[in-house]
Amino acid sequence: MLNVAVVGAGYIGLSHIAAYNQIENAQVVAVVNRSLEKRQEGAKEAGGKGYATLKDALANEKIDLVDICLPTALHEEFVIEAANAKCHVLCEKPVTFTLESYDRMIKACEDNGVYFMVAQVARFWPEFITIKDYVDRGELGDIHMIYEKRLSRHPNWSNWHRNPEISGGGLYDMNIHDIDYLYTLFGMPEELYASGWKSPSGCWNHVSTNISWSNGAKAVVETSLEMTGEFPFSIEFRGTGDKGTIHYAMRGGRNIKDEASASFYFFPEGGESQELEADQKDMFVTEISSYINAIENGIEVPVTPAESRDVLKITLAIKKSLETGEVVKL
Ligand SMILES: NC(=O)c1ccc[n+]([C@@H]2O[C@H](COP(=O)([O-])OP(=O)(O)OC[C@H]3O[C@@H](n4cnc5c(N)ncnc54)[C@H](O)[C@@H]3O)[C@@H](O)[C@H]2O)c1
Repeated sequence: MLNVAVVGAGYIGLSHIAAYNQIENAQVVAVVNRSLEKRQEGAKEAGGKGYATLKDALANEKIDLVDICLPTALHEEFVIEAANAKCHVLCEKPVTFTLESYDRMIKACEDNGVYFMVAQVARFWPEFITIKDYVDRGELGDIHMIYEKRLSRHPNWSNWHRNPEISGGGLYDMNIHDIDYLYTLFGMPEELYASGWKSPSGCWNHVSTNISWSNGAKAVVETSLEMTGEFPFSIEFRGTGDKGTIHYAMRGGRNIKDEASASFYFFPEGGESQELEADQKDMFVTEISSYINAIENGIEVPVTPAESRDVLKITLAIKKSLETGEVVKL
């Protein structure tokens, strides 16, 4: 049984606590939040104790794993604090903003011999697991084109997302889900070109990127963290190859947790369209339990530190293309 401290009991921290409540070999013993109300809410959900700082939690509880769900600019400081306390570390995406910062985090984890993983949850989304299975089994044949989109209104539960130095804007906060997922399909791209819109506060909140891989696959990825009015949270993936097309489209409400409608089909070349059903297991439970499984069995974590470094490198290449208007080679 692993004892867990969840640090940050906001939007995603509460989702992680709900997931731990469904995982048998882990229990949340501490919930850290600077706000009394939020740490009490999280501790009540978890059945653990609330603390104002990670230092207090580490001094008062036996903790094996620290799960960092704080605003992004705080990730590095807390990952290093947790690793130096010999705790395994799960850290929300986007992990950080620069490779130098990322390397400091990884060094602290390696020096202390703890397991580190970035919580790239899109990989564990049921329909995206099925899509990867179709791609890997060659059901689509040689892939010609992918279209992937993730469109959201601006978060309404916190205001730090508007500060590019704290959140990185939609480029880091949203786009990284799709970049991570495409990386699991094809690895490091060959080159990319991005264009987008920067908000008045300096966040790249609409981004459209054309990406090419050496195997001939190409993708167009569209992300927004600033849709207007009542525009529903929307995700789409369409992959077409010479043998078929797989298409998933989901439409939520104000955000991803609200009720959704979805359509998921495979269109084989020369055959009838097939409606697909993915195994509807909670993606946070799949993500966290597979990380814990890796720790307990001494095997590689499902989102490796090297993969997360590559995904950050791709994100930085997109930023460079946005800022220079040029194609960037990787
Ligand atoms: N995986 C996903 O789909 C997903 C979804 C949303 C957010 N996130 C990521 O999770 C992280 C947190 O985002 P969020 O939307 O949950 O934020 P949030 O604002 O809802 O929650 C963060 C909490 O941290 C607390 N906090 C801030 N500074 C603190 C400090 N120094 N010590 C203790 N507590 C402190 C705040 O009071 C707040 O309650 C971000 O990196 C974000 O990008 C991931």
